[in-house]
Amino acid sequence: MCGIVGYVGDRQACPILLGGLRRLEYRGYDSAGVAMVMPDGDLAVYKCKGKVDALEKYLDGKATDATIGIGHTRWATHGEPNDTNAHPHYSADGRIAMIHNGIIENYRVLKEALQAHGVVFRSETDSEVLVNLIEYIRTTEGCDLAEAVRRSLKRVVGAYAIAVIERGNTDRIIAARQSSPMAIGIGNGEYFISSDASSIVEYTQDIVYVGDGEVAVVERGKALQVFTLDNQEADIQVTRLDLSISDLERGGYPHFMLKEINEQPRTIVDCIRGRVNPDTGQVILSGIRDNIDRWLGARRVIFVACGTSWHASLIGKQLFESMCRIPAEVEYASEFRYRRPVLFPDDVVIAVSQSGETADTLAAIALAREAGAFVYGICNVIGSSIARGTDSGTYIHVGPEIGVASTKAFTGQVTVMAMMALALGERKGTLSAAQYAEVSRGLLALPDQLREVLSHSEQIADLAKIFTYARNFIYLGRGYNYPTALEGALKLKEISYVHAEGYPAAEMKHGPIALIDAEMPTVAIVPHDSTYEKTLSNVEEVKARGGKVIAVMARGDEMVRRIADYVIEVPSAVECLQPIIVSVPLQLLAYYIAIYKGRNVDQPRNLAKSVTVE
Ligand code: F6R
Repeated sequence: MCGIVGYVGDRQACPILLGGLRRLEYRGYDSAGVAMVMPDGDLAVYKCKGKVDALEKYLDGKATDATIGIGHTRWATHGEPNDTNAHPHYSADGRIAMIHNGIIENYRVLKEALQAHGVVFRSETDSEVLVNLIEYIRTTEGCDLAEAVRRSLKRVVGAYAIAVIERGNTDRIIAARQSSPMAIGIGNGEYFISSDASSIVEYTQDIVYVGDGEVAVVERGKALQVFTLDNQEADIQVTRLDLSISDLERGGYPHFMLKEINEQPRTIVDCIRGRVNPDTGQVILSGIRDNIDRWLGARRVIFVACGTSWHASLIGKQLFESMCRIPAEVEYASEFRYRRPVLFPDDVVIAVSQSGETADTLAAIALAREAGAFVYGICNVIGSSIARGTDSGTYIHVGPEIGVASTKAFTGQVTVMAMMALALGERKGTLSAAQYAEVSRGLLALPDQLREVLSHSEQIADLAKIFTYARNFIYLGRGYNYPTALEGALKLKEISYVHAEGYPAAEMKHGPIALIDAEMPTVAIVPHDSTYEKTLSNVEEVKARGGKVIAVMARGDEMVRRIADYVIEVPSAVECLQPIIVSVPLQLLAYYIAIYKGRNVDQPRNLAKSVTVE
């Protein structure tokens, strides 16, 4: 949420900042801005409401020949999206400029104190309070900028990733973070700062992740220095990022979302590579193997996650219960953290997060750690806060997910959970050899099956055209596919702004059936599984009330074809893996409905990828 970039080196900073902001626009696109220290030492700040395109137009004809600068793309928290609330913010005396991702929780108290000292504020943001606090401390306590940042942050409560520059200093950026991501790329005599390391990979693959409560002094011609808020020098670890620039481009697709949907046959291969032996079907996951005592001694497994990752976790719960016979619970991280959940040291808490930066999930992890539980991460982004803040974990390895609506991360998460349940179930002896072989063979078959599903994209696009008129949808599924129904409905809501609800098919008659009429389509997930007959009866109930049914069914199922109005055929998989197959046509249906409605699918209104605020 909010993208931040910075550059200091010998090149022109502005094009690098704008390029970085474009790559970070998925994190927020309410407003954008840059600040630079010009060669004569002047501080130039340019910012405006709207996307990076608007900023680029605004910059046209302005002097931008600086070699040091910071930039920001905003997802509004405090204050509406407008030019004044856009970042960078600068101190009332115009001496320092700052970009900020996060929320300063005690900003009201700090603001009143600064106002009492005569500081006049222009914006409604919490960020402007912080930049003025830094400047106030710098002038009243007579310290340099790095020290003023450190002292200010000791008075701040909240989450932040900030970068600060000052008039008259063309060499130095001060950066700091607490609970919001920040990476520093080390180039040849130059430094790049970003809230997402992938946005700077075209310049350098050598990345330093700034730790919580650390302040970095990023200075041209000098080695990077990092200090804790208590002024102790921190260790610097350089991580090599294994990403290519093509992972970050649309690769000929009109939208990242469509690219990412189509990547799934490959991302599943990447996810299972080296983990499922293609010859023997043997599953080896180091996160299970290396911590086997914690897993075997687990009293319970508790998944904590948000949004799509929460839906994947509902499937994870069923996988762990059925294959490992471990009691499993699924919690919204945002609810879990504000309850007083009962946790035991022999619980295993599994944090599931594509970005690895979701603030609520991070807070839930902290709670689990306090209780002494073993905390395991299922993340996509390498080196993310959750990946680094858990005891162990498994990456889903699906590559950067840039479309705001999560697609390939969902199928990767379910794939990882299936592998985990297999590896643990085998060790616990709760799976027969035949069950184990069936599921592991099922995993290996997924890429081809997904290719088959994607070959029907055009038919799904035609179906979407028919239903573009609908204002409400209901998605029904049972068992493993109840979470798939929730996920299908979420995809439609978030990118097409059409109201959609996912429901367990049999629950429909306890209320939502009253909604059924010819105007509200039902998407029914009816594969050949243990709930097939029952779900079919639920579909009949919808038809009997004049509802229109789009059925996602097993290839060649004549029974469903006779009952439903429209069908989407999918290959049959092992029951627990069927959600991976079924979710793909639901992603495509949502995508095409959004396209026919003229929505911006990669940047849906009000949303941003990676929710780093509470
Ligand atoms: C939906 C979506 C969100 C995320 C949620 C959690 O398409 O993307 O619901 O799933 O914000 O994000 P992560 O998985 O990054 O923790």
